[in-house]
This record gives sequence, structure tokens and C-alpha cells, in this order.
Amino acid sequence: MTDQSHTIRISALERQPLEPALAQAAKVAQARIGFALTGMSGDVPEAMLHAVSGGKAMRAFLALETARLHGINPVAAAGAAAAIECIHAYSLVHDDLPCMDDDDLRRGQPTVHKKWDEATAVLAGDGLQALAFELLMQAECQPRAKLNLTMSLSHAAGARGMVGGQAADIAAEKAALPLDLEDIEALQASKTGALIEWSALVGPRLAEAEREPLSIYGTRLGLAFQIADDLLDHSGDATVVGKAVGKDAAAGKATFVSLMGADGAKSRANDLVEEACDALSPYGDDAETLKEAARYVIERAH
Ligand code: IPE
Ligand code: IPE
Ligand code: MG
Ligand code: MG
Ligand code: MG
Repeated sequence: MTDQSHTIRISALERQPLEPALAQAAKVAQARIGFALTGMSGDVPEAMLHAVSGGKAMRAFLALETARLHGINPVAAAGAAAAIECIHAYSLVHDDLPCMDDDDLRRGQPTVHKKWDEATAVLAGDGLQALAFELLMQAECQPRAKLNLTMSLSHAAGARGMVGGQAADIAAEKAALPLDLEDIEALQASKTGALIEWSALVGPRLAEAEREPLSIYGTRLGLAFQIADDLLDHSGDATVVGKAVGKDAAAGKATFVSLMGADGAKSRANDLVEEACDALSPYGDDAETLKEAARYVIERAH
């Protein structure tokens, strides 16, 4: 809780392989969040810290790595990296609530409403959402880029993005007609894709650079990411995945797996990763870690 991210020395702008880059992203985000909560005690801040711990930090990684790709110092991207991990963690805390997916296990740990109670989980999620925007406003970057990041995050996280996708996901469970592939793609693009695309656009937004290649990368990666998540739910091992599996089929959720079968979904995810990597060609070899991340997204065991 006392670590200060601005005291962390990050080897400036040198590309690292995925594993250390993910570890560093987790450390940078945790440090900023921990610092923001310094001196607070009680269930809600403790639950907030619990919720941001133990994830893969993929979104923070995308923020820092796309910033590095644009020659942006990691200190300038740290606020955005921490902010997106707060939004992501809040989305998971609420996603796990009994009124949504009703899950007891997350990242191998009890979910927030199990460890504390439902009111604490609702409030910890609310607190994390507010904290995300506080961290973004404190980011050490140009005011115009900050405004752009803040506006775009509010869209990506809100009713046009993640919240809208979550609402469509819940509604689909009760829908009279099953969703088709086009519906599922649209649902997943907002539910999961919006936050992942936003993360991938942190670099170009900070640098005020061309966004198209990373927008293509981010949307393809976002879709592949949710297909991989659905495949893990279908055939993963709960002890390795760190959360319950078999829930989507039990809830009658329409996913790429339910519509195309596991092999069809894997093949679609592979194609998406190929498209994501192809979009990175303007960056040459410097985008190798982002390509590694895209492959990891569909090969991961958790
Ligand atoms: C899980 O996301 C929820 C989805 C959007 C599919 P992650 O797989 O990134 O979860 P953590 O943060 O690593 O636990
Ligand atoms: C949730 O998707 C995505 C969010 C926006 C939180 P899932 O419900 O499939 O995520 P998991 O499987 O619980 O992590
Ligand atoms: Mg869900
Ligand atoms: Mg869920
Ligand atoms: Mg899932």
C-alpha cells in the first residue's frame, strides 16, 4: 500500500518479452492503486485491493507496451495502466455478484461478495470505477491526451461499451430467440472488446498518433480474448483457470463455442490473432511483444 509507482525505475523504452512485461505491468498498476489507497482502512478499500490483485494485468500491459511503442515514457502511461485495471477489476467484482454470474471463485480466491458481502462488493466496484478516473486525471501526461483518454474510457466502460455488453449478455440468457454469430460478435465487442481496444490505444492517444493499426489489433485481440475465455469455461480446469468452469453452458449463454463448437471457436480465434498481428506490420520488429501477447491470449490456460 505504500509503494509509489513514480519511484519505480523502468528501463526506458526497451522492448521486453511478454512474461517480464506482464509482471512489470502488474507491479506498476498495483503500485499506483496501492498509493492512492494509502492510509485507508475498512472493508471497501480492502476489498478494492483484493479485487485488483492476482490478475494477468493484460490490459495494463497493453497500455504500457503501446506507449513504449510510441516512445512514451512508462511513467506517463502508468496512470492509464492503473486506471484500466481498476475498471476491469470493478467489472469482474460486479460480474461475479449473485444477480449476474453468481460466482464464488475469482483468480483462485473467494470473490468479493463471498469474502465480505454483497454491499461491500457493490461499493468496492463503485469505488474502483471512481478511482480509475482519479488515477487518469493524475496521470503525468499532456492535458489534451489526458482529456482524450478520459473521454474515451468513459465511453469504453459505459453503456456504449462494457456495461452495454454486460447488459446484452444477461438479456441473452432470457431471450426467446438465440443470438446468431453477428449478435454475439457485437455483444462481445462491447463486453470485452471495448476495454481491450481502449488499452491498446493508450500509446497512440498519448502520442497523438495514428490509431488505426492498434484499433484493428485491439478489436481482434478483444474478440479472441473472449473466445479464449469461453473456451476455458467450456473445457478448462477450474483449479488452473482460478474460477468456476462450465457456467456458460449451464446458464444457456450464447457464445462462439455454443454456436460453432470448440474447434470452430478455436479456429475463429486463431484467424483473429493472425489479423491482429498483421495489423502491427507498420511497427516492424518493435511490435514483437504485442504479437507474443496476441498468441498468448488464445494459448493461455487461465
Ligand atoms: C476475464 O478477464 C474476464 C473477461 C473479460 C473475459 P481476464 O482473463 O483478463 O482476467 P484476469 O484479470 O487475468 O483475472
Ligand atoms: C465478463 O465475461 C466480462 C466482463 C465485462 C466482466 P465473463 O462473465 O465470461 O467473465 P468471467 O468468465 O466471469 O471472468
Ligand atoms: Mg459474465
Ligand atoms: Mg462471469
Ligand atoms: Mg467467462
